[in-house]
Amino acid sequence: MTAPAPAPPPQHVAIIMDGNGRWAKQRGRPRTFGHAEGVEALRRTVEAAGELGVRYLTVFGFSTENWRRPAEEVSALFDLLRLYVARDLDRLVEDGVRVRVIGSRVGLQSDIAAIIADAETRTAANSTLHLTIAFNYGGQDEIARAARRLAEDTAAGKLDPASIDAACFAAYLDTADLPAPDLLIRTSGEQRLSNFMLWQAAYAELVFVDVLWPDFGKQALAQAIEEYRGRERRFGGHGA
Ligand code: FPP
Repeated sequence: MTAPAPAPPPQHVAIIMDGNGRWAKQRGRPRTFGHAEGVEALRRTVEAAGELGVRYLTVFGFSTENWRRPAEEVSALFDLLRLYVARDLDRLVEDGVRVRVIGSRVGLQSDIAAIIADAETRTAANSTLHLTIAFNYGGQDEIARAARRLAEDTAAGKLDPASIDAACFAAYLDTADLPAPDLLIRTSGEQRLSNFMLWQAAYAELVFVDVLWPDFGKQALAQAIEEYRGRERRFGGHGA
């Protein structure tokens, strides 16, 4: 008898990168130091995802609720997006990574909107790894924006209300081009979705790991994938 084939890796991994502040506090450093180390962890994770057979990686960089943080911290997070794209975009282009940014563009400084457009345009033909950065993103905000556009199309007579179903609605979300996440990881021991991919995570396997985000890398990702492989996915049906 041959052994059953190992379960495939998740096609799409989504990550809530949490714990930067605690990581910095443990070292007596400002929270922004933790965020800067978080960018290093993001670099390692993008590389590791490709090596581990993941095709889609989506990370939560800045939430619609993060505006409640002190202005200095918000500004540091925006600077880190600028820095990440300035430093890494050439390499991402070369490595065949397609970059997308999901979230609301409302309230973003014009240079950030331009940086995002440039990253998306320069990588549009790539498909080795699909890296999606959720920035100024909230799941409820995304659903509300989708509903607004759907209502506009309906009012304009472009869409028949009777044709609205889950697939039709999903096409109005920021993630219209992406498959649903198979595995959703949150670091730092917290066990919440915090408004991340509320629609898309309907059947994602959730894995909560204690490691703080700046310490995350290939080993932690591989472990989470191993845990995912041990899960039985039923999508509302039954295993038999
Ligand atoms: C949560 O840690 C993390 C964030 C709010 C930001 C995540 C951002 C990065 C990893 C930097 C890279 C981002 C981009 C867009 C390139 P926390 O501050 O809530 O940590 P705590 O829960 O320990 O306080």
